[in-house]
Amino acid sequence: MKITVVGAGAVGASCAEYIAIKNFASEVVILDIKEGFAEGKAMDLMQTASLNNFDTKIVGTTNDYSKTADSDICVITSGIPRKPGMTREELIGINAGIVKEVSSKLLESSPNTILIVVSNPMDTMTYLVHKTTGIPKNRIIGMGGALDSARFKYRLAEALNAPISDVDGMVIGGHSDKGMVPLISKATRNSIKVTNFLSNERLDKVREDTKVGGATLTKLLGTSAWYAPGAAVSSLVHSVACDHNKIYPCSALLQGEYGLSDLCIGVPVVLGKNGIEEIIELDLDPNDLAHLTESADGVKKTNSLLS
Ligand code: LAC
Repeated sequence: MKITVVGAGAVGASCAEYIAIKNFASEVVILDIKEGFAEGKAMDLMQTASLNNFDTKIVGTTNDYSKTADSDICVITSGIPRKPGMTREELIGINAGIVKEVSSKLLESSPNTILIVVSNPMDTMTYLVHKTTGIPKNRIIGMGGALDSARFKYRLAEALNAPISDVDGMVIGGHSDKGMVPLISKATRNSIKVTNFLSNERLDKVREDTKVGGATLTKLLGTSAWYAPGAAVSSLVHSVACDHNKIYPCSALLQGEYGLSDLCIGVPVVLGKNGIEEIIELDLDPNDLAHLTESADGVKKTNSLLS
């Protein structure tokens, strides 16, 4: 199993580290355009191998796509991250050109690869990859919902004063401050609905804190977060690489599901060796469905800015 991560910034490097630590891949290639940067990150990470007990070989390269040849899975993290006060949508101008070029170069060296898109605005970048590469839709996965759901579970556990392992919940919709749809009505603590434990007011706070999860961190850190994004990507890679068929909310091309088409947006999918094996159509309560439809309008608006 060979995995390529494009972009040796904080998200790309964390993603490579978590993949290596999980020890399921034979090789991880990190590629960056900044001279020597990916090589440095790869060497630093390789020097953790004997300490963290992994056998995955990590290789860095400055823009040499031949090193990525025959990758089973490629992760695209390249582009600029947002600064405090910026929305993810504001990154479209610079990131669209980068994502288009990177995805086309990756496919030249690995024509059968599965692509995982992380660059923002992620749903629109995932849609752009569909439009420009034309590869089958099961092989293009946008990472957003897995991260947003992890943030949702963190906020639920905080509100419940419970360990995170006791909590389950999912965020669908667009990966944006306004577009996320945390499915409060389906969230549980050990199979008991969280609505049994928390007031509507407290649940509203959980919802709002979840939706601005990325923005809150960007304000604290001065740039976009990386540990949870890296861990979320590595979980998707793991499920595909090992054909685990786990369910994660991911940005997928919809063709009628949830009454939506011609866009990529977060919905639960089964991830296995073919990438998106299945899109799951949840029975949503009318409120959540209305929020998803509204979120889709927002994503389509951003998609319309692609030239
Ligand atoms: C975040 C970025 C990865 O939400 O979009 O942290």
